[in-house]
Parts: sequence; structure tokens; C-alpha cells
Amino acid sequence: MNVIPNPLEEAGRSGRLADPCVVVIFGATGDLTAKRLVPALYNLGREGLLPTNFALVGFARREKSHEQFRSELKESTAKHSRVKPIDERIWAHFQESIFYHASEFESDDGYAALAQRLKEIDARFGTRGNRVFYLSVQPKYFPVTIEKLHRAGLIYDPHQKDKWSRVIIEKPFGHDLSSANELQQKISNYLDESQIYRIDHYLGKETVQNLLVFRFANSIFEALWNYKHIDHVQITVAEDIGIGTRGHFFEEEGILRDIVQNHMMQLLSLVAMEPPVRLNAASIRDEKVKVLQSIRPMTPEMLERCVVRGQYGEGFIYGEKTAAYREEKNVSPLSAVETYVALQLYVDNWRWAGVPFYLRAGKRLPKKVTEIAIAFKDAPGVLFQKKEMHGDPNVLVIRIQPDEGIAMRINCKVPGPTSPVLPVKMDFRYGSYFGAAPPEAYERLIWDCMVGDSTLFARTDEVEHSWRIFTPVLDHWKASSPSDFPNYRAGTWGPKEATEMIEKEGRAWRLL
Ligand code: BG6
Repeated sequence: MNVIPNPLEEAGRSGRLADPCVVVIFGATGDLTAKRLVPALYNLGREGLLPTNFALVGFARREKSHEQFRSELKESTAKHSRVKPIDERIWAHFQESIFYHASEFESDDGYAALAQRLKEIDARFGTRGNRVFYLSVQPKYFPVTIEKLHRAGLIYDPHQKDKWSRVIIEKPFGHDLSSANELQQKISNYLDESQIYRIDHYLGKETVQNLLVFRFANSIFEALWNYKHIDHVQITVAEDIGIGTRGHFFEEEGILRDIVQNHMMQLLSLVAMEPPVRLNAASIRDEKVKVLQSIRPMTPEMLERCVVRGQYGEGFIYGEKTAAYREEKNVSPLSAVETYVALQLYVDNWRWAGVPFYLRAGKRLPKKVTEIAIAFKDAPGVLFQKKEMHGDPNVLVIRIQPDEGIAMRINCKVPGPTSPVLPVKMDFRYGSYFGAAPPEAYERLIWDCMVGDSTLFARTDEVEHSWRIFTPVLDHWKASSPSDFPNYRAGTWGPKEATEMIEKEGRAWRLL
């Protein structure tokens, strides 16, 4: 069997067992619970990673019985579990520990009843008072839920030795810098930073975790990982889907807040960070924060030159006609919300001086692909002149999804006497090498929270610095409504201004 040790495992999984605990999901009737959270818990159970003493409570407003909740979850888990079909025997056992608790998010009585219910569960399941509170609710409910939990005595002193309470907070954490600071200030009245787990599911993806291993366990790349050898970096998060049923949400957020400020900045930080002194949460997060602090603030000139926003019009995806964003459900017919963004950022530190980082994210692009491409500088054009080189500079591609893997484009001589040079690809694919689908991001992250490892969660200063970078962009957009929306057809690679932005600098977006 091929076993490659993962240093993050040392910081996380190794030898550690999750304590007995109850996971309480707020927003238990929502999509995330059905499609991701409960399938993740079921799969943890299936792999023997849930503690023996475990229970799950769903908290939401709608009235329903435990039985109804269980049967709905069974149906959605059967559909969304990474391993199908679900194992009836395992599910039967798992569902015995699932309960439903109906309450308003602002109701003191609802939380008092929850406290009572949790006490009973502790007595029955031996869960010893340990709690994971998962806030999968609209962001406006984050502070009130935490305050009510505190009032009901469900948030413990972080120094308490015999039991713990931890809170997982879904994104978005704030809407811009000031709202994120305000939220932080409110929740820190009740929670210590060590109890807060700000989730960014990109950090739970295997390929994202592998970035650190790839960079710091391979000496060949680390030596080249700087401005002397790297021409530029491209990060792409392309999705073929539109906004589906999330019109309300997307009208509030836009893609900059939804994808760039969190997921893409996590990718950028891991690519650009210095080696941490240790593989623990504090050291890794310290280094990531330094990257965010080094990002050049957007000047008015950069806001014009380095930022492009777009919104999809109607078009075709895989041959099927699709609607324009402005025609989607719960979207304003005059919406100015962006569904595409391309950016050019600079990390102004010693390692990355002068190296542009190009980022693009979009909905309704031709396909789903997330990747990081490191484009190296040209070899000196002394021996092989440009005209003989049908190839390009070397590119290292880290494919986050799909086809998780790592590919290196190198130039090669074509057999025969005329010797043209052509690029070829060395390709490593997780799927074919390890032969199994990696665990879902939420499995890893919920498990990490249960064992108390916050390495793969965003710390307050990461969130703050990330908002600091993008708040000027959001303000600029707010002040100037786009006159050309929709400016790209669904099923294309975004607005022409994004192509021009990178081409002006003598570079091009990768063809994916
Ligand atoms: C979520 C965004 O955080 O990430 C969605 O809210 C997006 O808009 C999703 O579709 C993408 O996640 P993944 O894991 O499919 O890349």
C-alpha cells in the first residue's frame, strides 16, 4: 500500500480520538445540513471516527418529530453521501442518536429546553457535557444564537477541564471589514478565540491540505518558490453552475464575498506563506496572516487596472440553454451583483517581490475546475530561440478539483531530426494512485473540531486582513454601478476585460 505521511495529520489526527460529545446543528432543515453536514457525520461514523458516545441534535424553527427528521436525513444522506449506497445497519445505529429540537433562534425558552434536552442526552449517551454547536444559519443570527447559548449556560469557561463547548461558524463572517469586526466584537463577549471555529470548507479539501506537504516536504520545489524563478501565479475557481436556488443569498454576497475573500485567499496564503516553525495551528496561521498583511493595498489606480467584475447573461452550458443571472429566481432584474471577478494582487514581501498573483472566480463558466498554476520564468533564450519553442515556460499545476492531482508542464524534444521543442505534461493523479476518493472536506473539519484542532479553521486576524484587502474593492463597486452587465455569456470564460487585464501584461489566462 502507498502511504505518504501527511504532516498535518501529526497536527491533527494522529493518535487522537474525538471526545464523547453532542453536535448541535443550528439551521438543521437547511441544504447544508442535508447535503454536507449529516452525510459527513454518517461517513465519519462509517469509518469509526465518531466517538462511541455521540449524539446529534438538529435545531430549527419548523415543527417536526424526531422520526420525520431522521427519515428526511436518511433520504438526503443516501443521495449525497460520498460512499453509496448507505449501509442500512450503520444508518440504523447512527439514527438512534439523532434528535430534533424545534425553536426560534431568539427564544430564551427554546434554549432552556435545549439545555434540558442535552442534559438528558448526556445521561443516556454518556456524552459528558461536551458540545459542538454548528451555526449553519443566516449570518444575522450568529450573535443572537451565541448570546442565547451563553445565557442558557451552554458555553463553558474555556479553561474548564472536565468538559468543553466549541462553536463552528459558517461563512460569511461579516460583510466587509467593519461588519466582520463588529461581529467579532459581539461574539467575543461570550466566546474565547479557542472556542471559535470559523469554517472555510476549502481548508478541509485533501488537495488543499497537501499544499503544505508538497511545498515543505519536497526540497526541489521549495528552492524555486520565489520571485527569482516564478513569473506569476494563477488561481482559478471556475464553476459551471449558476446560483440555483440561492438568489437571496447571492444578491447579498456576490462572488467576491462568496468565494474570493475566503476560499481563494486561503489558497493564496498557503501558496505564498513561509515555512511555519511548527506544524501546529498557531504557527501555520501566523504565517498565513503575514501573507495577507503583505498584500499590496488597492490604490484607486489599481482598482481600475487590477480588478474586473462580470455578470453572466444567458448562454449555453454543455449544450443546454441557461438563463441570465438577472432572470434567476429572487434576483433583481437590474441587479449589479457580480458573478465573476478577476483580480491581480501583489504580495509585497521578500519572497514574492514583483510577482503578480492573478485570481479569477466565476459562475456559469464552461466547466468546474479549481486549480493553482505556478508559471516559472522562461529559460534563457540562448540555445533554443523563441521560434523553435512551440512550448511555453514551465508550469506547475496543483489541481484542487476535479481530477485532484499535480501536473508539471516541461518542454521536450520531439523525436526526429528537426528537433522542435514541445511542451509535455508529467501528471500525478490522486484517484489513480491512491485508488480511493478522499474524504469530504466537512468530514475532516467536523472531526478536527471534535478533537479540538483549529489548524484548518480561519483565525480572527486572517478574516480581518482578508476583509481589509477587499473592502476598498467593494466600496469602489458600490460607488459606481456597472453599465455593461451582463457582460459575459453563460458558458464562456468571463468578460473580455478580464482577458485584456492579463494580456496587457504580456501573459494569458490558462486554457482549461
Ligand atoms: C461555497 C459557495 O462556499 O462554495 C458556493 O458558497 C460555491 O457558491 C461552493 O458553489 C463551491 O464549493 P466546492 O467545494 O464545490 O468548490
